[in-house]
Amino acid sequence: MKKIALALLFAGVSLMANEGEALFKKCASCHGQKAEKSALNKSQVIAGWDAAKIEAALKGYKDGTYGGAMKGLMKGQVASYDDAKIKAVAEYIATLK
Ligand code: HEC
Repeated sequence: MKKIALALLFAGVSLMANEGEALFKKCASCHGQKAEKSALNKSQVIAGWDAAKIEAALKGYKDGTYGGAMKGLMKGQVASYDDAKIKAVAEYIATLK
């Protein structure tokens, strides 16, 4: 049992390191692989934003305090993300160049 728990723990750690990247996969279809696109020609280009700014925007979409005409769409994108996931994906986007 202990071995299994340990193996799960390690799997969890490596998952976290790649979590932001994994979480960004579904975003890339609209925002581009490097976040270089204007999503659906509506969003601002988020490549170059720092993590805090992205995090604030995503939290705002989630609670309805941020966004433009298509904010409902983004709300759906992040509705299932908790704060840790929002942070992970924001930090990943901020590393894209
Ligand atoms: C189906 C297309 C689509 C997907 C998938 C998508 N987005 Fe968006 N995103 C948009 C659109 C459209 C907007 C502009 C919404 C508005 O009107 O505020 C936007 C806006 C944003 C903004 C703010 C930019 C601005 O214009 O203020 C951020 C940050 C963002 N998205 C991040 C993400 C992340 C992270 C994911 C993945 C979890 C994601 N998006 C998935 C279409 C998408």
